[in-house]
Amino acid sequence: MASNSTVDPPVIAILGATGTQGQGVVAALLRCTETPFSVLALTRDIASEATQRLQARYQGDNRLKFGFANAYDFESLLTAFKDAYGVFAVTNTRLSGETIESEEDMRHEVTAGQNIYRAAKACGIKHFVMSSLPSISIASSGKFQKVFHFDQKHEIEEMAREELPATFVYPAPLSADKKVDWVDPCYDIGVFVAKIFHLGPQKTASKTYPVVGTKISIRQMADILEINISKRVIVTPSTVEQWGACISAKAGPGYRQDIEQMMEWINVAPDDKNLACERVLSKSGLNGIIGKGLDLRSREYLFGRFSET
Ligand SMILES: NC(=O)c1ccc[n+]([C@@H]2O[C@H](COP(=O)([O-])OP(=O)(O)OC[C@H]3O[C@@H](n4cnc5c(N)ncnc54)[C@H](OP(=O)(O)O)[C@@H]3O)[C@@H](O)[C@H]2O)c1
Repeated sequence: MASNSTVDPPVIAILGATGTQGQGVVAALLRCTETPFSVLALTRDIASEATQRLQARYQGDNRLKFGFANAYDFESLLTAFKDAYGVFAVTNTRLSGETIESEEDMRHEVTAGQNIYRAAKACGIKHFVMSSLPSISIASSGKFQKVFHFDQKHEIEEMAREELPATFVYPAPLSADKKVDWVDPCYDIGVFVAKIFHLGPQKTASKTYPVVGTKISIRQMADILEINISKRVIVTPSTVEQWGACISAKAGPGYRQDIEQMMEWINVAPDDKNLACERVLSKSGLNGIIGKGLDLRSREYLFGRFSET
């Protein structure tokens, strides 16, 4: 998208602006110097602590406005997207304050996703950017079919890409020595999404960008942490069953197989696969998590790739 200082900056409406990924996108869009953007931060509760914290952080910056939207309330989405150029959206597998008792309790996410892209299409949104995930059913050739919180996002992605100019980002997530992709879902997603809006749908529509850093194992992560915090860091891997029990104790029993199969897949996924897709390295990221101990040189790659497209 070409920058033009004589017209009002394009408005990007953000669903999930008070959450981890959305906050990173708000920050990166307001920092973006290549194209000036205005941001409409959408929330279900304008008075919540999270919304107030966000307001306080950007006090005095009139490029940031707040509005109401609920992904299960189609009319609210139409109102929220009415004057926007772009939309960034996350969908949530877990409904706030509710537990997942059965696998069917997760299906609502697809309804939310459909509401979001249909409202975006009805409002003539020029660039739709969504946080998605690959299908583990497809990636594992049918071996792991219960990682619903991945597969459903992929299902929404496949439907949305048929309907409007859309770009997708994947926040990638274990024995101690298994090398895996890491992402800072706040900082990294923000940087990538701002760059995608800057480049616009002409260069990025229909593309999916896995947002990942250099593959490292939990043990290497511990070594880096040890250097950065000057304290001994010990890795004590949990079993898949312990992990499933821990997460489902909070999220509900219906989530247990989903989360266990996700970990089983990560443990057996071929090293040259970033979950399900071609490997693309990120420029920024991990900064908040492990700091300067990492070799960041390889992260120049994605932006090289962007400019080639
Ligand atoms: N964070 C990660 O590392 C990561 C990695 C892979 C995938 N994901 C997926 O991405 C989703 C979002 O991740 P996150 O970490 O950014 O979420 P988060 O920090 O849990 O925040 C959730 C956000 O969604 C908004 N929200 C919740 N229900 C909504 C509804 N009905 N309508 C509109 N907005 C709603 C909340 O806003 P209000 O409460 O202000 O309305 C909040 O801003 C997760 O649920 C997960 O499935 C996350």
